[in-house]
Amino acid sequence: MIVAIDGPAASGKSTTAIGVAKSLGITYLDTGAMYRAVTLGLIENNIKFEDSLELKNYLIQIKLEFAEDKSGTLLFLNGSNVTKKIRTSLVTKNVSEVSALKIVRKFMVDIQREIAKNYDCVLEGRDIGTVVFPNADFKFFLVANEKSRAKRRFDDLSKSGLLDSIGLDDVLKDLNKRDYKDSTRRNSPLKKAYDAKTIDSTNLTINEVIDKIVNIINKKRTLD
Ligand code: CDP
Repeated sequence: MIVAIDGPAASGKSTTAIGVAKSLGITYLDTGAMYRAVTLGLIENNIKFEDSLELKNYLIQIKLEFAEDKSGTLLFLNGSNVTKKIRTSLVTKNVSEVSALKIVRKFMVDIQREIAKNYDCVLEGRDIGTVVFPNADFKFFLVANEKSRAKRRFDDLSKSGLLDSIGLDDVLKDLNKRDYKDSTRRNSPLKKAYDAKTIDSTNLTINEVIDKIVNIINKKRTLD
C-alpha cells in the first residue's frame, strides 16, 4: 500500500506522515529530506549546480540511509549524520534550485520507488501523487494558511536552535519564495494530483489531521 502526502512548505506533511505511518504500522519516507541532503552534499563539495558532469559524478556515488533512534528518523549521507544540517537556512535557501534539476529528480525518484517497492509506505513530498506514485492507493494534499505555516516553521526552527536570528516575516517570505519556485518549475512541479483529497490543517491539530487520514484509509480498507 502506498499513501502519498503532498503539499506546500511547512504544511505539516512530515509530522502528519510520521503519525499516519506509526498508526498504520508502516514505513515512512521523507522525500524532502533527500533533496535537502543532495543540496548539502553539493554545497559541501563545492559542486556548481549547473555543472552537469560534476553533478552526475556526485549523484552516482551518493548513499542515503535512513535510521531510527529515540529522537526520531535520522538521515545519513555517505555515512555521515546530516539530520540537523539539512535543516539549516543555507540548505533551505538552495534546495529548490537543486530539486528543479531533471537529473537530480531522476536519481531521487528511482531511490524512492526502490525503497517503497518492498514495503507499505507513507511518502511525503511535492510530486508523490503526481509523478512518483501516480497509482498510489491513497493521495492527500495538505494545505494551511500562510500565517499558520510560518508560525509552525518559526517554532520548529526556534526549538532546534536553527533560527539564525531571522524573524517570523522572513520565515514567511522564505516559505512563499520556495513554494513559488517549486510550483513553477518545469520538472515535477508542486501540484495537487487531480484525485488527491485536500486537507486544510489551518484549524486542526496535527492529531486531528492524522486521525482524519487514518480513518479514511481504514474505512476504505475494511470495505475492500
Ligand atoms: O519541510 P518543508 O516543507 O520545508 O520542505 P521539505 O519537504 O523538506 O522539502 C524541501 C524541498 O525539497 C522543497 O522545497 C522542494 O524544493 C524539494 N522537494 C521536491 O522537489 N520534491 C519532493 N518530493 C520533496 C521535496
